[in-house]
Amino acid sequence: MALHFLATLALLALDASAAVTVRKTGRAPTGYEVDFSYTNTTASRVLIGGGLQLFTDEFHTTLTSSGGFDPRDYRPGDFYVGSFGGPRDRAWPYEMVRSSGDDGLWTFTTPLPSGIYSFAYLVDCDNPFACSIDTGQLVIDPDLPPYRNVQGDQVASSFQVPYDAQFQGTPTIDLNFDYALSAPAGSRGTIKPVNYTSPGSIHPAPDVHEFSVYLPAEYGSVAGKKYPLLYLSHGAGGNGDDWENLGRMSAIMDNLIRGGLLDPTVVVMPSFYNLDSSLPKFIYGNMSNFAPIPDPAAIRENYQKYLFPWVQDHYDVCDEPGCRGFAGLSWGGRLTYEMYINATDYFGYFGLFSPATSAPLLDNGTLAANPALADRGVFVTYGLYDFVFDAGRELQGALDGLGIEYLSRVTPFGSHYWNTWQDALWWFGQKVLWKPLPVTRR
Ligand SMILES: *[C@@H]1O[C@H](CO)[C@@H](O)[C@H](O)[C@H]1NC(C)=O
Ligand SMILES: *[C@@H]1O[C@H](CO)[C@@H](O)[C@H](O)[C@H]1NC(C)=O
Ligand SMILES: *[C@@H]1O[C@H](CO)[C@@H](O)[C@H](O)[C@H]1NC(C)=O
Ligand SMILES: *[C@@H]1O[C@H](CO)[C@@H](O)[C@H](O)[C@H]1NC(C)=O
Ligand SMILES: *[C@@H]1O[C@H](CO)[C@@H](O)[C@H](O)[C@H]1NC(C)=O
Repeated sequence: MALHFLATLALLALDASAAVTVRKTGRAPTGYEVDFSYTNTTASRVLIGGGLQLFTDEFHTTLTSSGGFDPRDYRPGDFYVGSFGGPRDRAWPYEMVRSSGDDGLWTFTTPLPSGIYSFAYLVDCDNPFACSIDTGQLVIDPDLPPYRNVQGDQVASSFQVPYDAQFQGTPTIDLNFDYALSAPAGSRGTIKPVNYTSPGSIHPAPDVHEFSVYLPAEYGSVAGKKYPLLYLSHGAGGNGDDWENLGRMSAIMDNLIRGGLLDPTVVVMPSFYNLDSSLPKFIYGNMSNFAPIPDPAAIRENYQKYLFPWVQDHYDVCDEPGCRGFAGLSWGGRLTYEMYINATDYFGYFGLFSPATSAPLLDNGTLAANPALADRGVFVTYGLYDFVFDAGRELQGALDGLGIEYLSRVTPFGSHYWNTWQDALWWFGQKVLWKPLPVTRR
């Protein structure tokens, strides 16, 4: 734990003017505090928004409302489920304070419990739900830039706060997210954006498309070794940088691998927008651009034609379904379903994280025509407070009705958000990936 925390600090310390500092305090309410600082001489009001949320607990959460607790009032068992825009959610507690001098220094300190947080500064913006990068009201922290390929692909910076059992422990729910803290040096894989040739692509350049790749620490050091390969998809309104920037997937993978819970695995995180010009261009940072979501079958066909062969040619990855998987969150879960149904033979493992699936789902005719559907390693997971809860149940019902075995998990603190999907990856890696089939056998 101490090692983890030092590693986190070291990362932040790389930048002398680090704008965000996570500090161990050894006192209530959470055992940790986070200091933000931002310089702007002309601003008259600065809020911290873009993903920093209010808290709730198991007794104050419904599908449309949450406790709306300020982190300064944190109690063990509190977690966040996103903002519903209700009256309490509008009481925005993350308001920066301007120093008395004329240096334009804005600061804010808050306790926070274990977990992933993303943020951007909201400058001269009174409605945190309506400020955008286009109007200059949403400012990315210049000292903690997001992980991204090209500028505009990500609009929030992120950090992880460690767990402290003394202040955050609760007997009813495990809210320790330290599996997403940086692993010690030597156990860290590499993560980077990659451009590949994809005829027809309209971003980041004509006929050039992008993905992010995670290579395990061991990669390249064992002659001739071929690694299992996981494709991991973002959801609607996202891109292939999301999993690292908002979900710290490389830290989760490092910790799975170093703990002996998962074989070293290569992970490719593709981007499903802008594959061709049939839909308007979608750029993450452009909030005025609500591009339609691409059709899963079209994404699948494009990946099969350009992405999958390119990855196979450029990395030391194995080339059989038993060591290849596809997973994704939300619309990426819908895409995973498409791969499960229509690219069944290419993959042995499927992770449907908060899947945005809907009827008609597979039926006995689908199974009769494609019996392999019943011998794959399938994981269906979503949050207890997830707005696709019903969709997840329905998908499970369809699989149950056909006698198809799979593993499932309802994340007890989960909404349709990154802490749920981090949890999904953590358990998918331990319980499903590359495990002997059927994965339901203990
Ligand atoms: C400073 O605030 C102004 C609004 O007063 C904003 O337009 C500008 O982008 C901000 N500058 C920086 C460097 O964040
Ligand atoms: C990918 O291509 C874009 C557009 O040419 C470029 O800005 C970006 O730096 C490239 N990324 C990588 C990782 O090569
Ligand atoms: C943002 O999206 C809008 C609507 O699609 C478009 O008109 C505008 O040119 C885009 N801006 C940038 C910087 O891409
Ligand atoms: C995908 O599979 C379903 C179910 O077998 C089938 O109805 C559909 O036509 C397939 N889609 C494509 C594009 O092949
Ligand atoms: C699927 O189930 C329906 C209703 O139980 C049945 O009528 C039909 O013959 C079945 N089809 C196949 C291909 O097994």
